[in-house]
Amino acid sequence: MANVTVIGAQWGDEGKGKIVDWLASRADAVVRFQGGHNAGHTLVVGDKVYKLSLLPSGIVTGTLSVIGNGVVLDPWALKAEIEKLEGQGVTIDADNFAVADNCPLILPLHRDLDGLRETAAGAGKIGTTGRGIGPAYEDKVGRRAIRVCDLAHLDQLEPQLDRLCAHHDALRAGFDQPPVDREALLADLREIAPFVLQFAQPVWKRLKKVRKAGAKILFEGAQGVLLDVDHGTYPFVTSSNTVSGTAAAGSGLGPGSTGFVLGIVKAYTTRVGSGPFPTELDDATGQRLGERGHEFGTVTGRQRRCGWFDAVLVRQSCAISGVTGIALTKLDVLDGFDTVRICTGYRLNGKILDYFPSHSAEQAAVEPIYEEMEGWRETTAGARSWAELPAQAIKYIQRVQELIETPVALVSTSPEREDTILVRDPFLD
Ligand code: GDP
Ligand code: IMO
Ligand code: MG
Repeated sequence: MANVTVIGAQWGDEGKGKIVDWLASRADAVVRFQGGHNAGHTLVVGDKVYKLSLLPSGIVTGTLSVIGNGVVLDPWALKAEIEKLEGQGVTIDADNFAVADNCPLILPLHRDLDGLRETAAGAGKIGTTGRGIGPAYEDKVGRRAIRVCDLAHLDQLEPQLDRLCAHHDALRAGFDQPPVDREALLADLREIAPFVLQFAQPVWKRLKKVRKAGAKILFEGAQGVLLDVDHGTYPFVTSSNTVSGTAAAGSGLGPGSTGFVLGIVKAYTTRVGSGPFPTELDDATGQRLGERGHEFGTVTGRQRRCGWFDAVLVRQSCAISGVTGIALTKLDVLDGFDTVRICTGYRLNGKILDYFPSHSAEQAAVEPIYEEMEGWRETTAGARSWAELPAQAIKYIQRVQELIETPVALVSTSPEREDTILVRDPFLD
């Protein structure tokens, strides 16, 4: 298996960016295949911190970085992010960066609709990132989207724009909003088009060439399996498939190309936005996890909800996504706890469940069954080998891999790139 697919196995923010950046130097190409700038991937290299939302995390190491067709692309967000990264000394040009010309665009009207719906939903809101992700995917599936390739043919856009605006104007009227300003939209698209088009191409073709040359491809997922539109905590999910199988469809390569599936798993659990969260801790322990883990959103700055590790959820994510091995991240955040807990099952209406049910009300009602383990007083922060870990921390890792029925391939012990323990090299598997 020369290729590796990295996916989040919880509700996002598991540390995918750090692991992708660490693996990127061994890869020949890094490909984003779903999501958009709702993602927030943090990379720490020495004294530099890079926050990426749309650009693949390989860009920092100079590895060929590709935005696949499965991504929804906000062209203005792309430009802003490229300029920010260039300001940090990262080189981005047509040699090391490509965008699929069949990517659907996120337009200002998508962001408007995202915000209008969330406001109207009040307490029942999803808690989206407000980036227009859901409405943009709806237009893609509804066959109304404007895509990157359309930017090269703006003089022919009229009929598409008619269809798109007819749809949105009706929705906007329902929210007492004025119709889309078509002239302004077209003018904005004309202005941004050359910037995007310099990177646009049929990326499936480029990736086919890369594969033929025997190169290693690293697929970088965004969000996590529990936010998957099919398998997640519906309706409190994002609007794309976040599971490993999407790597093929979202980049234009076959299912045989995804290789080793590396599930990124935080040593505890966090969630940002609304929706069920069985092991959530609304107490001092939850607060302590949040403070030690600096659990504030990369994209929106929102405080993340925190709780103990939920082995039922991660076992389910690993099964659904065919995870070959996991990277266990943020182990250091658990340093210093007298005891640590792992959820091993749920109680629902007097019954014991070994899986997370599909129905929203049942997901909200399950009560976690915990197993308690002795914690460790020593620090694991910065450990780069198994030998540096305290015995109790090793016991915790072993119990995690037993319960989730999936082996540990990597352990991460700080935000810093090199503070990573390699147990099993995904590229050599
Ligand atoms: P992503 O969305 O999955 O890429 O994760 P985020 O970047 O949104 O959130 C993960 C946060 O944890 C970032 O601030 C990382 O720098 C940080 N991080 C990653 N791995 C570790 C780790 O092993 N230990 C600690 N303490 N922080 C980590
Ligand atoms: P990374 O890649 C954590 C959540 C939002 C909200 C739901 C829907 O950094 O792990 P959306 O804007 O996608 O329609 O919001 O999904 N969400 C994330 N949570 N990490 C992310 O990305 C997320 N991207 C979206 O908070 O609950
Ligand atoms: Mg994130």
